[in-house]
Amino acid sequence: MKQTRVIAVLNQKGGVGKTTTTLNLVHGLSRKGYEVLAMDLDPQGQLTSSLGLMKRDIGGLEKALLNGTQIAEVTYPVRENLKLVPAGHGLSEIEDRSEGGSSRGMMLRNILVDIKGQYDFIIIDCPPSSGLLVVNALFAVDEVIIPMTGDYLALQGLSHLMSTLRNFEKVLGHKYKEWIVLGRFQARRKLSQEVKGKLKEYFADNMLLTEITESVLLAESPGFGKTIYEYRPSSRSAKEFESLVDDFIIGRTH
Ligand SMILES: Nc1ncnc2c1ncn2[C@@H]1O[C@H](COP(=O)(O)OP(=O)(O)O)[C@@H](O)[C@H]1O
Ligand SMILES: [Mg+2]
Repeated sequence: MKQTRVIAVLNQKGGVGKTTTTLNLVHGLSRKGYEVLAMDLDPQGQLTSSLGLMKRDIGGLEKALLNGTQIAEVTYPVRENLKLVPAGHGLSEIEDRSEGGSSRGMMLRNILVDIKGQYDFIIIDCPPSSGLLVVNALFAVDEVIIPMTGDYLALQGLSHLMSTLRNFEKVLGHKYKEWIVLGRFQARRKLSQEVKGKLKEYFADNMLLTEITESVLLAESPGFGKTIYEYRPSSRSAKEFESLVDDFIIGRTH
């Protein structure tokens, strides 16, 4: 039995780098020999396609959540040591489900009970919303990775997200470990530096040390179904993500 770390990559804002972070984190961890399960909880399925799994009609997480399909039946090997539960068609229907009472937020948590212990890491790429899918993620995980961009609206969004997390903690009766990742960073932009400064002021212990610089390579690689280590292994972006992976493993913050 492994001590499984279960993590949601979460931010209600779209375009902040959740999927990019998940993609290169899960592959980075698996390349180090860890057993990793990635779950695509976003109906848009971008993590699924970024990992090169094109056949979304094979079915995915929605089957396990709604039809009681065994999670193993919708788990696909995508790299050495890395498996994926893709987002199949129909996942979006869960988002606005109203039947099922309070247990409808526990569907993912109940599924994970069966497979916890098989992996070193289970990492869930969340949709940019605060609907039922994200509620399911928050009931299922112990840790949250919050990708952040360097602008003021992102800061406002963060305080809202933090208060949501505090509310879930009350219901769950335990605290999350929270990790902030500064992605899409532009070192020469004054605003990026200011936002970084503010984050360090309030969240230094949560901020992973390595920031991910804005780079077109990170935007290109998903189109080829590749992670950054495959697309441009010697690039600055690949090195940054390797360093971020180490930060995350050992909890190295500012
Ligand atoms: N560091 C980065 N440099 C350049 N482009 C990035 C970077 N991080 C993300 N992107 C691009 O920005 C867009 C949004 O990123 P994505 O990871 O999909 O965000 P989210 O999952 O939060 O919606 C995508 O087109 C992605 O390729
Ligand atoms: Mg995404």
